[in-house]
Amino acid sequence: GTGSRGVAVIERPEEADSEWERLAGLRNRPDLPMATFYPVGSYIAEEYIDGTEYSVESFSFAGRHIVVSITDKYHVGCVETGHKLPADLPEDVERTIVDHVVGFLTAMGLRDGIGHTELKLSSKGPRIIESHDRAPGDRLLDIMVTTHGVDLEQYASGWPCRKVPALTERPPVLAGAVTKWVNASPGVVERIEGVEEVRAEPDVMAVEVHLAPGDVVGAMDDNFGRHIQVLVTAEDTKTAEVRCDELVGRIGIVTRPAAP
Ligand SMILES: Nc1ncnc2c1ncn2[C@@H]1O[C@H](COP(=O)(O)OP(=O)(O)OP(=O)(O)O)[C@@H](O)[C@H]1O
Ligand SMILES: [Mg+2]
Repeated sequence: GTGSRGVAVIERPEEADSEWERLAGLRNRPDLPMATFYPVGSYIAEEYIDGTEYSVESFSFAGRHIVVSITDKYHVGCVETGHKLPADLPEDVERTIVDHVVGFLTAMGLRDGIGHTELKLSSKGPRIIESHDRAPGDRLLDIMVTTHGVDLEQYASGWPCRKVPALTERPPVLAGAVTKWVNASPGVVERIEGVEEVRAEPDVMAVEVHLAPGDVVGAMDDNFGRHIQVLVTAEDTKTAEVRCDELVGRIGIVTRPAAP
């Protein structure tokens, strides 16, 4: 998938037919955002994996995998609606995640470069959801510059020609950060409130606005249905979370019902 488009959890056999119809209908929708670049093609069915989901941001140096951040998530359905990093975890859980991902990347044969691995700590143990040898989205690279003092983009461009030294251990945590989205309810956007004031706060890294007055908003079915991203930093993740919630509450997207 891309941006969680076409991901569905089917809980009962009776739901299968209608869900399949809905999902298959995404194949012929050139009108959907980014559909030209990421057309919906084939589907896979998987066992449902329970538990809490994290992503693991790593860099591999000639086969030696260094985990930079373990990132906690907020979800609505299967859509990620925010991230908090570093995840606030007991040491043994953190070790389990790191060991699992390092073992996975080794098994996959990744030698060099950025890794972005999503996994769940399920009742059957850690399970990989998906993994990529590319940068994570949602500005996690920028956030890690603040939280861990590590710019993985510099490593991505510098490491292949050995212009940067390899990291030999996990970088220490310098700060916490939380990013969340403010989403409009379905309708036509009339106005957006509070963005400039929030953006001016010293602990706000960025506020990114992905919609404008006049836009028609539908239900949030995928990452492209997320509207305003707020990125906040603080001395630790918990403080950043409280602060992000407060700031997100100051932003409003006013919509009116769309014409039928
Ligand atoms: N087998 C599964 N069991 C449980 N949850 C799943 C499973 N597959 C996917 N999910 C949930 O759906 C989300 C989106 O799935 P996935 O990451 O595969 O799609 P994606 O299009 O790459 O999304 P994104 O771009 O947001 O990462 C996952 O992050 C996870 O929460
Ligand atoms: Mg994913």
